[in-house]
Amino acid sequence: MSQDSIAVGSMAGASSNSGRGLWSSRWAFFLAATGSAVGLGNIWKFPYITGENGGGAFVLVYLACILVIGIPLLMTEVMIGRRGRANPEGAMAALAKQVGAGRHWRLFGSMAILTGFLILSFYAVIAGWALAYTPAAIMGSFAGLNGESSGALFGALLGDPWKLVGFGTVVLLLTLGIVALGVREGLERSLRFMMPGLFVLLLGLVGYAATTGHFLEAVHFLFDADFSKLSGQSVLVALGHAFFTLSLATGAMMAYGSYLPAGTSIAKTAIMVALADTAVALLAGLAIFPLVFANGLEPGAGPGLIFVTLPIAFGQMPFGQLVGGLFFIMLAIAALTSAISLLEPTVAWLGEKFAIGRIKAVVLSGIVLWLLSLGTALSFNVWSDFTLFGKTFFDSLDYLTTSLLMPLGGLGTVVFGGWVLSRTVVQEALGIGHPHLFTLWWQVLRWVTPLGIVLVFLHTLGLFG
Ligand code: TRP
Repeated sequence: MSQDSIAVGSMAGASSNSGRGLWSSRWAFFLAATGSAVGLGNIWKFPYITGENGGGAFVLVYLACILVIGIPLLMTEVMIGRRGRANPEGAMAALAKQVGAGRHWRLFGSMAILTGFLILSFYAVIAGWALAYTPAAIMGSFAGLNGESSGALFGALLGDPWKLVGFGTVVLLLTLGIVALGVREGLERSLRFMMPGLFVLLLGLVGYAATTGHFLEAVHFLFDADFSKLSGQSVLVALGHAFFTLSLATGAMMAYGSYLPAGTSIAKTAIMVALADTAVALLAGLAIFPLVFANGLEPGAGPGLIFVTLPIAFGQMPFGQLVGGLFFIMLAIAALTSAISLLEPTVAWLGEKFAIGRIKAVVLSGIVLWLLSLGTALSFNVWSDFTLFGKTFFDSLDYLTTSLLMPLGGLGTVVFGGWVLSRTVVQEALGIGHPHLFTLWWQVLRWVTPLGIVLVFLHTLGLFG
């Protein structure tokens, strides 16, 4: 198998990797993986959980979690994908076979694919909110909003089934269209302009935030570490977010890794992806909090920070229509580059397992995804009374995937990487040359990462913390 991948790397054409497609370079993989990682988690969730958990000290703990949980698991997933050269299920099956482990390990791959597929069905609806808010911002609908009317505006969007289904469908169609075109022509080509666009918009917004006169206040808020504000609960939130923000346990990084040319250092590339993802989260904080402070609003407002608090700021500030419009376009791009990585594992799996063409696989997944997305869109309005275990359809899907399937799948993957695969296989695949550095990483992967995941999981189940 490693012979095989060396041959694949030297050919480096689209026809290599047994016709599965391959990124044209390590840079293309970096763009794709960063596009997957940077999403609603960075721009919507990170700022509000930082706000809720008191700022700087939380940011420090989050950085530590990225280092000891996020990066080791990210490297492991990319490595499994590249060595297995197949969809997540196929790659885990191939690797398990190579080391003489049981066939059931592949089920963690299947679970990851399913998790990503289910997440996409609601991620598309939420990304649709950003799409709906873009024209609203540009046309000046935010002018003169206060806390109450801004909440009402958002409530009106959630209450409108046609709008939610419509915008969710647009996001799904864009995602399906890009994935249908394939690894090079679809994913890579679209990412080559979406990712630079995203960074330019983000830097522009940070630049604007710097002119509000409240920039330093935001810097202090994000970077002054006051550990008295930190609870055990905050540590677990940081741990869970490290997992989510790097798109782990959804098959995305394994699928993207399976198109990575041989010879690229997985260790270096994974660290670059984690750094870029963290930089975007921090920059998003630096773009958002100055506006919040400049307009006398509340940084700890929770999930409504982006869709309720920020519109009030856009409605009050100079050039608010332009800045608000650009902000929501940026959010939509970030969500779209994540959405395509949520779909790719399923499409690769359908194609490889049932030997059907990419277009057919995309159409099939599209039909099921759209039907599932209706459940989420309608759970905010006409079906809001229909609950399972006291949760709406959307809340149930969210809980099942992010709280149950993701930690379980992540744990399976990390145990597979640290305990089932041999040390030499992993060392060779990662390309960490320095022996002591590798030993350190290996011990973290075997002990610290699984322990961290188990803690998050127990906490989620209400058994701890
Ligand atoms: N990382 C994405 C974000 O920060 C969310 C996400 C979680 C994701 N798992 C994923 C995206 C899998 C793509 C694939 O918003």
